[in-house]
Amino acid sequence: MVDVVLGLQWGDEGKGKIVDVLTPKYDVVARFQGGPNAGHSLEFNGKKFVLNTIPSGIFHEHCINIIGNGVVIDPVQLKKEIEKATEAGVDLKKNLFISQKAHLILPTHRLVDAASEAHKGEHKIGSTLRGISPTYQDKIGRSGLRIGDILNPNFKHKYEAAAQIHRKLLDSLNFNYNLAEHEPAFFEAVEFIKQFKIINSEYVINDLISKGKKVLAEGAQGTLLDIDFGSYPFVTSSNTITGGACTGLGIAPQQINKVYGIFKAYCTRVGSGPFPTEQINETGEKLRKLGHEFGATTGRPRRTGWLDLPTLKYSIMLNGVTDLICTKSDVLSGFDDVLVCNQYNIDGQITSELPFNLNDIQVNPIYQTFNGWNEDLTKIRKYADLPDTFKNYMDFVEKEIGVGVGVISVGPDREETIMR
Ligand code: GDP
Ligand code: IMO
Ligand code: MG
Repeated sequence: MVDVVLGLQWGDEGKGKIVDVLTPKYDVVARFQGGPNAGHSLEFNGKKFVLNTIPSGIFHEHCINIIGNGVVIDPVQLKKEIEKATEAGVDLKKNLFISQKAHLILPTHRLVDAASEAHKGEHKIGSTLRGISPTYQDKIGRSGLRIGDILNPNFKHKYEAAAQIHRKLLDSLNFNYNLAEHEPAFFEAVEFIKQFKIINSEYVINDLISKGKKVLAEGAQGTLLDIDFGSYPFVTSSNTITGGACTGLGIAPQQINKVYGIFKAYCTRVGSGPFPTEQINETGEKLRKLGHEFGATTGRPRRTGWLDLPTLKYSIMLNGVTDLICTKSDVLSGFDDVLVCNQYNIDGQITSELPFNLNDIQVNPIYQTFNGWNEDLTKIRKYADLPDTFKNYMDFVEKEIGVGVGVISVGPDREETIMR
């Protein structure tokens, strides 16, 4: 049996925290896509961790953590993460499993990412510059290198062949770079990773499932950054939706049971691209300040805005969400009014459907306004104890989207969670 956790907006919905909270009910946590563009934060016992590649179940001793075939891995980044988690007392040699089929981010992929963003100029995607797009391009172009290749005596030769093509590309983009600066750390990290369990993950996961183990599949990014259904081209390069869990782990669709969809009580986005409910004003500043909305991976300020139900409904539809989780509800305390967009006005047409392209058109959100609340929600542990004004807001959201919100997160810590 596999349950899936994923983000319904533009990423950073609080997936790391929620996976950590749900892990006690699971035997396995498996990341299915993305790479170190992700930054998943978790907090417990007064400590805070940010994971980029390692699944967010890692701080629970009983739990097997698998980096699936759909993930792209930067050995340098993974080594740093492993070292940090080891310092915190986690035995990763026991609990971390890495798919042989996960693709490798090479130093040249990171350079090509930077070069292509520079080349796009003001039309840049605002990528995390972690080499994600060039690595997935090579995967789809059938010229990528995979984790299993590092065990091959020929690895250096394969690396050289790939890097040579990337160097030609970098030269054609007139990009200045010094590859020699990056290669020693890369090869050192490749050697380091060989100590961990490199596995045929599709067999291992299916074997665990057939033995009755419970698997939680952890997504990265969010549905609105999905390569097919996100605000293309301002997206990431993988399928972030439930379907991505099947291809990114090698599990059949009928194995999937619950789909937990996480949304923030408002919206954020990092990088370029359309954002209909964005607040480029004092409200937006206040959301950013109260929500500490700065990227966990790059530190960039996140763009902020009100909750957007047309996009949320779209995400719920694409993912088959069975259980909704609302995070960062506490951040909305202290606003006189809380707004929710439930329809768009596009050229005089009222719609709650997303148009083909949000990029070049004027989308005017139509808002419902709710009375705000001043109570601090972070100490509340029972739904009944939440202010009525908050409940009115949540009732409206649930009614509009037609799925119940089972978990309300009221702070970054494990404990700051209301289960309904
Ligand atoms: P992820 O990428 O989906 O795992 O989310 P991030 O970790 O990038 O961003 C979410 C941020 O909000 C992190 O700093 C979390 O510690 C924090 N966070 C998660 N849930 C809550 C919550 O309910 N309230 C508040 N105030 N912060 C939260
Ligand atoms: P988590 O898992 C928020 C955004 C980038 C950029 C676009 C493409 O922490 O939610 P990429 O580096 O993937 O080529 O960048 O996607 N992006 C994210 N935004 N959270 C993330 O991950 C993101 N991963 C990528 O900012 O706009
Ligand atoms: Mg994040």
